[in-house]
Parts: sequence; structure tokens; C-alpha cells
Amino acid sequence: MTTITLPGLIDVHTHLRVPGGEHKEDFASGTAAALAGGMTMILAMPNTSPPLTTTAVLEATLVQAEANIRCDVGLFAGASPQDIAYLPDLAQHAAALKIYLNDTFGRLRVEDVPTMVACFKTWPRHKLIAIYAEKQSVAVSIGLAAVYNRPVHIVHVSRREEIELIADAKAQGLPVTCEVTPHHLFMDQTDAARLGPLGDMRPILGTPDDVAALWEHINTTIDCIATDHAPHTLAEKHSDSPPPGVSGLETSLPLMITAVQNGRLTLPRLIELMHTNPRRIFHLPEQPDTQVEVEMTPTIIRNENLYTKCGWTPFDGREVAGQVSRVVLRGEIVFENGRVLAQPGNGRLIRQS
Ligand code: NCD
Ligand code: ZN
Repeated sequence: MTTITLPGLIDVHTHLRVPGGEHKEDFASGTAAALAGGMTMILAMPNTSPPLTTTAVLEATLVQAEANIRCDVGLFAGASPQDIAYLPDLAQHAAALKIYLNDTFGRLRVEDVPTMVACFKTWPRHKLIAIYAEKQSVAVSIGLAAVYNRPVHIVHVSRREEIELIADAKAQGLPVTCEVTPHHLFMDQTDAARLGPLGDMRPILGTPDDVAALWEHINTTIDCIATDHAPHTLAEKHSDSPPPGVSGLETSLPLMITAVQNGRLTLPRLIELMHTNPRRIFHLPEQPDTQVEVEMTPTIIRNENLYTKCGWTPFDGREVAGQVSRVVLRGEIVFENGRVLAQPGNGRLIRQS
């Protein structure tokens, strides 16, 4: 049987739900899921409850993270019109800034130009701004990158019109990068119809043509694969007002390695998308003596094998070409034969200033 060795993978888009959503996920369970999925470093989003938009909430959350994480974690600060004055302070501790231009889970939103401009003028230039933008908001994000001449990272791009606009922006030399999720690469609106609330997330699953467009850009325009790991309980998903979002930390690498086996991208390109580019774009530190081993053996993804607290994935029942067999973080075996060995507190906080 073949075993493939990869560097520790980096997921720049996860929701670990602390504070306020600990029944969906917490730092210990989310980072266990990360290691089981071959991720040794992850960034967590600020749409928590309360959100990570003030110094007090960010600092309290960092303290909780430090005690409980099993792999390395950085936190995004969130932009909100009421809390814009905190940005310089937040920048001391956050890995990057997240701006939500479109509607999604949680109340964090920026809809006015003065707040957008304030973010671009006050957030330190050496730190990244990541934007949730759909449809015409992608054009707004590219415009801001051009006007302020600073890098912008567009999260979970899902449509042909969006990836083609970003390709054109890059061709002009504009400082724009982007990420795509495995669910937007491996599912389309047919799956959304089949899965009901379990196939609902933001952005929604695309048309077959949107999916084809993303694959057309896998070797060029797309910079990173990011999971948008967004756990919600099955009870919440089956309620009258199901929240959008699906888990992803444990299925991303198995799906992407399957695409490698099927000739849709090369292994060096997978490493660029899941390690080298995320580290470069977000200025993340190196992890010495860190690697992930994948056993190339046909495997069925099963809810019961997951470490995420929500306990389900829209890919339940899907066959993939390999599974993570061992993860080594800074010389220590932290995952082996289906078992997470790292203890809470084993991970390091990423606090670049
Ligand atoms: C995310 C969540 O649940 O926090 N949901 C989602 O559908 N993607 C929010 C987000 O990433 O926009
Ligand atoms: Zn997200």
C-alpha cells in the first residue's frame, strides 16, 4: 500500500464557535477534527457570539484557545461598524481581519462604505484583510484592493462569474488572492436538493457550470483550498430555521487526494493549495518537524468516525482514495490510526504583531 507524506496542512477558514456556540464545536473538539483531517494549523473566524470585534472578547477567547487547542490556531478579528475603533488594538493579537460583505450565519456585516474605508485605512498593512464577497461584492473587494493598493483575500469563491473576475483582476496585477472549499468543488445544486438543510451553506452550492469553472481555475487563479468548517448540530439543521454551514475539516484532504488520484491536479499543486500558499498569503510561521501521512486505500467517509462535535458531514457515505494515517507536529505523533493523541493545550497560538 502506498503512503504519501505531506507537510502539515493549513486551513485558513474554520469556525470553532468559541465563544457562544460551544454546543456545536469548541477549541478542543475542533482542533481534534483538524488533526484527524491532516491540518496542523488553522485560522478561526470571528462570527462568534459575541463576535471577535472588541479587545475584551478577543483577549478572553485567546486565553481559552491557549488552554484548549491541540494544533496551532490563529484568530481572525471581525469588522463591524460599531466597533471600528478597536481595530488597532485587535491587530495586536489577531492573525488577520475578516469583513463580511454578504449575508451569512451570525450578525457580523459591513454594508457601508465608511466602515470599509476605515478598515482599509486602519488595519496594519502587513496584515491580511479577508473578505466574504459574493457576486458584485467580489468587484467591490477588488476595487478596494486597487484603491488602497493592498492585498485582499476573497473567501470561499463559488461561481464562474466570480472566479473569472478574480482571474481578470490578477491578470491586471491587482493584489487579490482567493480560496475555494471542497464542498464547492465536489458538490453542486443537485446535492443541495438531495441533502436539504445538510447541503445548505453560504455561498450555496453552485450549478454544474460553476463547479466546472472552479476546476478550470484549480491550477491558476485559486490560491488556497480552505474548508469553511462551519459545524451546526443536526437538531439545528432539522429545525424550522436551519443555520447555513457544514463541517469540513476531516473531509478536505481525503477529497483533494482523491482528485489527485483521478488526475485533476498534481500532488505538488495540492501542497501549494493546502500548505505553501496559505502560509505565504497569511504570513504564518513554519512548523518544524511536522508532517502528515496519507494511506492510499479506498475509504468510505462515515459520520461515526468524525471528531467534530457536530458529528456529521454532507459527504457521509462517499468513497475517497485515502485516509490520514499519522500526523506529526513538532516531532510529536499527534494523530495515529484513527486516534487523536494530542492533548488540549498542545497547540500554539499564532499571535503575530
Ligand atoms: C458559516 C457559519 O456557520 O459560521 N456558514 C456558512 O454557511 N458558510 C458562516 C460563513 O462562513 O459565512
Ligand atoms: Zn466561514
